[in-house]
Amino acid sequence: MSEGVEAARAILRANDRGGYTVPAARLYPFQWNWDSGLVAMGWATFDEARGWQELETLFRGQWADGLVPHIVFHAPSEDYFPGPEVWGTRGALVPTSGITQPPILASAVQAILASSEKRPAAEARAAGLYPRLLASHRWWARARDPAGTGLVASLHPWETGMDNSPSWDAPLARVPTETTTPILRRDTGHVNAAERPRGTEYQRYIHLVDLFRGLGWDARLMLAQSPFRVADIGTNAILLRAEHDLLALARRFGSPAEAAEIVARIPPAEQAIGRLWSEADGLYLSYDLTADAPIAVPTASGLLPAFAGLRPHAARLAATLAAWSEAVAWPVPSTPPSSPLFEPQRYWRGPAWPSVNWMLADGFARLGKEGAARALAASTVRMILGGDFHEYFDPRDGTGLGGADFSWSAAVRLLLAKFPRA
Ligand code: DGY
Repeated sequence: MSEGVEAARAILRANDRGGYTVPAARLYPFQWNWDSGLVAMGWATFDEARGWQELETLFRGQWADGLVPHIVFHAPSEDYFPGPEVWGTRGALVPTSGITQPPILASAVQAILASSEKRPAAEARAAGLYPRLLASHRWWARARDPAGTGLVASLHPWETGMDNSPSWDAPLARVPTETTTPILRRDTGHVNAAERPRGTEYQRYIHLVDLFRGLGWDARLMLAQSPFRVADIGTNAILLRAEHDLLALARRFGSPAEAAEIVARIPPAEQAIGRLWSEADGLYLSYDLTADAPIAVPTASGLLPAFAGLRPHAARLAATLAAWSEAVAWPVPSTPPSSPLFEPQRYWRGPAWPSVNWMLADGFARLGKEGAARALAASTVRMILGGDFHEYFDPRDGTGLGGADFSWSAAVRLLLAKFPRA
């Protein structure tokens, strides 16, 4: 039950740069948005004050329009590309990127508050963060779903957090490979290149950064002109869950008008996500907003509506999870092994990820699928420990891949300590 807990705490302490936690020492030497949501919850299992501080420090990078950037560059580092000079943003007091990441922060705040053992202090920290979260959710609605469709757009694969997911192959192929910024990858100096995205993908990633920088990071122009524009099922599911968590916070710390505003966003999101259900695949699909068509490439992200508490297809989703889990030794593969696109060691094209596993274990437990949740929690803990707290894992044999001593793997180990059989 407590195996690896001390090691996990030690990793968070070692990756602490004074108020924020780097995901991994050299590979990711700044503060990342959704990593910090998980990491804050991990810290809070043994140091609540430090958990709150993680989120407060991240919000130093929030822009005046509400955007929470995907990277906050608190201190310089030569170890990462593209650094602040490539982004060229001016939205916050500290240098930041100009795109975002899956919005898990309201859920992190609500989770830390709900399990807090230091009530008055926790109430005060959560109350301080609430207006930041509200501004961030308003940004999502305004900047990424101005027509009120119920689905928000992601404009860069990095925004989905699942950079080289096979779901993005077709939409990303529309993005030119030419860049004005010279590509000086650092990631492949830290990690085996076979475990990272390919060179042409990086060219397209940087093309988008060049384009957006040229548009002055104007949200309206970016949405109108980005050649990559998807409704990522993962991001939309995480946002829907976060809306429920933000609503709980609004009822405590906000006004009735704010709560009503959040309530009004939930049914359109539920209905729009519902339309992304694929009966043939037994999960949800992302949607290509440029082609105006579903992206018929199933990935683990299509299971994440379980994290949002969506009930209609919960039993079928649990069956899909079970089938995928039986096909590998160490679930959940990010791409099903039956797919011709399955690459078991290459980043988001096959490996199992602690972050996804935690969201699925949490979601299925809340949906009453406790057996599935407990089994996944237990195997995830064994995978993280056996693979030495790496970033992601080969689902065939549990080999640890990507960055070592990874903060979100440590955080997930700590979070799963509360699952009975983990
Ligand atoms: C990276 O650099 O690999 C990140 O995923 C981008 O945020």
